Amino acid sequence: MFQSGVKTDNNPQAFKAKVAIRRNVMAAIGQPAVFDAFAGSGKMYSEVWREAGSYTGCDLKPQNDGRLMFCADNRRVMRAIDLTQFNIIDLDSYGSPWEQAIIIADRRRVAPGELFGLILTEGAGFAYKSNVVPTAIAHLTGLRAGIVGLGKKQDAVIDRAIAGLVRRMSCSIEKRWQAEGKSGAAMRYIGLVLKGKG
Ligand SMILES: C[S@@+](CC[C@H](N)C(=O)[O-])C[C@H]1O[C@@H](n2cnc3c(N)ncnc32)[C@H](O)[C@@H]1O
Repeated sequence: MFQSGVKTDNNPQAFKAKVAIRRNVMAAIGQPAVFDAFAGSGKMYSEVWREAGSYTGCDLKPQNDGRLMFCADNRRVMRAIDLTQFNIIDLDSYGSPWEQAIIIADRRRVAPGELFGLILTEGAGFAYKSNVVPTAIAHLTGLRAGIVGLGKKQDAVIDRAIAGLVRRMSCSIEKRWQAEGKSGAAMRYIGLVLKGKG
């Protein structure tokens, strides 16, 4: 179903795809220690992350289900805590995960040879259709505001953002899995295994 570096076509079972991508990333990382930045009600925790070696969640909304959680804006938390405690970070946002991804790039050094899992849910398709370039995307891609035709280039924008991100992290991409949500929502589910270059 998923192969390294290969995109799947429209996947009607987004939930299953999200679970499979997380399982793949977890299998690739030894002793997974997960930071689940958009932890929500814990669907991904119940399906996958509860099997990780350690788990810390974060959400704006309080969750009272016994998980170890920060109840706060994940950007504030990720700017404050030691991110080297985690070797998988899950950015399962509703919209754009890129601002949080930049915080990780700038604060989570990946040692030479170290593997690091990064999971992205990208749903900024509506912004691209309106030819809006979110600030974090502009930083990572070099795209300027006012550019037209972005709506048809979502995947190219994402590829360019990932390239900018891994360059910033001084990493290479060891593995990548990707699936698409329902076409109208233009969601992309991406799992990356990065390797530190030093
Ligand atoms: C798509 S849901 C996450 C679903 C979750 N991963 C799961 O498995 O159930 C997005 C969640 O992100 C939270 N959220 C949105 N912006 C946030 C932020 N800046 N910091 C922390 N949580 C945020 C929302 O409250 C919502 O629960």
